[in-house]
Amino acid sequence: MKAHLEYKERVNALRAREKENVERAEEEPANHCGEKNFPPLVPPLKCQGIKTRLAGEISRLARTQRFERWVEPFCGSCVVALNLQPKKALLCDANVRIIRLYRDIQSGKLTPGAVQSFLADEGEKLRADGEACYYRVRERFNSHPSSLDFLFLNRSCFNGVIRFNRFGKFNVPYGHKPGRFARAYVTKIVNQIRRMTEVLSTREWTFATADFRATLAEAKPGDLVYADPPYAGRHVDYFNSWSARDETELAGLLKQLSCAFILSTWHSNEFRKNNLIERNWNELHLQRREHFYHVGSTEDLRHRMIEALITNFPACPPDRTEGGNIGAVGVFREACIAELHSAGRWERPRRGTDPTPC
Ligand SMILES: C[S@@+](CC[C@H](N)C(=O)[O-])C[C@H]1O[C@@H](n2cnc3c(N)ncnc32)[C@H](O)[C@@H]1O
Repeated sequence: MKAHLEYKERVNALRAREKENVERAEEEPANHCGEKNFPPLVPPLKCQGIKTRLAGEISRLARTQRFERWVEPFCGSCVVALNLQPKKALLCDANVRIIRLYRDIQSGKLTPGAVQSFLADEGEKLRADGEACYYRVRERFNSHPSSLDFLFLNRSCFNGVIRFNRFGKFNVPYGHKPGRFARAYVTKIVNQIRRMTEVLSTREWTFATADFRATLAEAKPGDLVYADPPYAGRHVDYFNSWSARDETELAGLLKQLSCAFILSTWHSNEFRKNNLIERNWNELHLQRREHFYHVGSTEDLRHRMIEALITNFPACPPDRTEGGNIGAVGVFREACIAELHSAGRWERPRRGTDPTPC
């Protein structure tokens, strides 16, 4: 009975908070990246599954929530954080090379000036030696990893993917563009480094190499988690293997969180739909967005895709919702259970006595 009353209390509190969040989102003028007319900011690193084109949409969703810290267990290129620019963030990825690059920018080890002269010099060698130069840098990187070499490889490899073999060695082939580092392109990359440096100098962001389980264990009330895992069964490599089992484990952990979360995953393409959505996320809120992937090693990875944004809060005021919302009920129940559970006070009421919150 006590648990039942607490449950109801929590439901009412969450409803009140939800109403406040929706009102706030309507009042606040959307800034830079919430606006469709502004192009998104582009990070210095490219990776498969990069959310450049969804960054504005995800930022807008995030701004409907009041949160103290932004937490990303799969930060990849960091494009979403770069566009949202939260004051505090915990940005994690299993790929130590990605995290090292962002840490090097943050610490001032990788400066715009250093990138400018490195890419200009190595770009000249690439122009002269082509393939031989690319493989020389790849070998150097694999024996002594450095962020400058990583950047060079990332921007001159085949289709800008990040892939490591089972021994942890970068194995993406040459992109066959000897003139890749023309002056304009180098300037573009240097500007991306400069922008990231500026953002990092004014924010309290922590970068960490971590498995998603460890990152989610750090999440606390007041955080907003954005999870963008690899697609199950695709992009499989040393730092990036992902199975249906991982996805189900992720779903379990996210649903137990005591804070809000946003998850992006693929919904469907012209050939098939993602059955894991129904299995793992049925009771939460879902929006669909069309997205075109430009980064991928094969044609089937560069394609039109319907992306799903799944949240444990109503995604936006009804008049702004595209696609459909599913399962508006479960969110309150899960959030209540999670909060009581984390406080060690939750006992699931017997069947039939479970109050329906909405
Ligand atoms: C789809 S990408 C994220 C893309 C990112 N949101 C962006 O827009 O650039 C998935 C990321 O998950 C990372 N990853 C793969 N398995 C992981 C795991 N078990 N724990 C943490 N990160 C993992 C990969 O290294 C990759 O950077």
